[in-house]
Amino acid sequence: MGTKEALFTNVSIPVRSSGNKVTVVGVGQVGMACAFSILTQHVSSHVCLIDCVEDKLKGELLDLQHGSSFVKNAKVEASTDYAISAGSKVCIVTAGARQREGETRLDLVQRNTDIMKFIIPQLVKYSPDTILVIVSNPVDILTHVAWKLSGLPKHRVIGSGTNLDSSRFRFLLSQRLGVAPTSCHGYIIGEHGDSSVAVWSGVNIAGVRLRELNPKMGSANDAENWSQLHQQVIDSAYEVIKLKGYTSWAIGLSVSHIVGAIIRNTGNIQAVSVHVKGLHDIEQDVFLSLPAVLGEEGVTDVVNQILSVEEKGKLQSSAKLMAEVQDGLRF
Ligand code: NAD
Ligand code: LAC
Repeated sequence: MGTKEALFTNVSIPVRSSGNKVTVVGVGQVGMACAFSILTQHVSSHVCLIDCVEDKLKGELLDLQHGSSFVKNAKVEASTDYAISAGSKVCIVTAGARQREGETRLDLVQRNTDIMKFIIPQLVKYSPDTILVIVSNPVDILTHVAWKLSGLPKHRVIGSGTNLDSSRFRFLLSQRLGVAPTSCHGYIIGEHGDSSVAVWSGVNIAGVRLRELNPKMGSANDAENWSQLHQQVIDSAYEVIKLKGYTSWAIGLSVSHIVGAIIRNTGNIQAVSVHVKGLHDIEQDVFLSLPAVLGEEGVTDVVNQILSVEEKGKLQSSAKLMAEVQDGLRF
């Protein structure tokens, strides 16, 4: 009899599945920031990592496993074989090329579409009831590509979208107003990228709409130049990429928040990339961010925001741009 057999009298077979398994594909800067946030915020007790670079994957796995006693004994696994992802409640896709300085997110589109063609069928093969959270850029277009490739219903395919941009916006509002970011209510919608739309008509603090205090807020002829905050949101990624080469922590936290809402079935409203055809008179078959209710089925509802004529026009322009890029894609 070995030591283990002498130590224990087996009573039943241990359950292998936690029921909250999360797979992260791509263990680069973004994938590891997502995994780290999910583990340290106790969003899941079972995280599975996948990448095509074996050594890096093994190194990241060991490094996280060595800290497992500090994250409530969460289980972390890794493999280049997608079989390891079987039974995942949520699969996060962060694999692919990132922007170099001077590149836009849209410049990555065909390269990352080709990567999706391999990844998405594998994930769905092993987790046919999963919810896909796409993070790789350009995220709105790749969410559309992933939806088509997966065969999943549209509410199960979500892009991390402008959840991050909205967080950047609230941070900037908080700096200017001197209050906490979570007390600043405002959304960035549309493309996660250069054509995003700031919903100035709805920005409020404790229910006080700032447009009622300053009717020109967000417009080009506002003496207080609040529109500069939206421009700073658009420039954020370019600035961070110029300074440190990539963005990681904020997107990791943003994705962890989205995944937490799904796993805990909370009904949180977050700006994520959803199928928008038919909403706000959008005619194109595209994904863009709108505030959506998140739960264990993925997206349950999309909020019908009351947009100004200008905001709606900008959102429709984002949709046209997405459709034009999609038309040129091979997948
Ligand atoms: P990175 O280069 O650090 O990591 C990419 C990882 O993908 C690497 O580990 C690579 O081995 C892996 N990979 C490449 N092809 C693969 C394949 N076929 N299968 C499995 N793994 C594969 O890049 P990063 O900084 O982590 O960025 C990843 C993506 O996330 C980029 O597209 C970037 O633009 C995007 N991103 C999105 C947001 C957002 O808000 N949506 C924010 C930041 C970055
Ligand atoms: C971001 C990435 C680059 O941080 O999309 O916004």
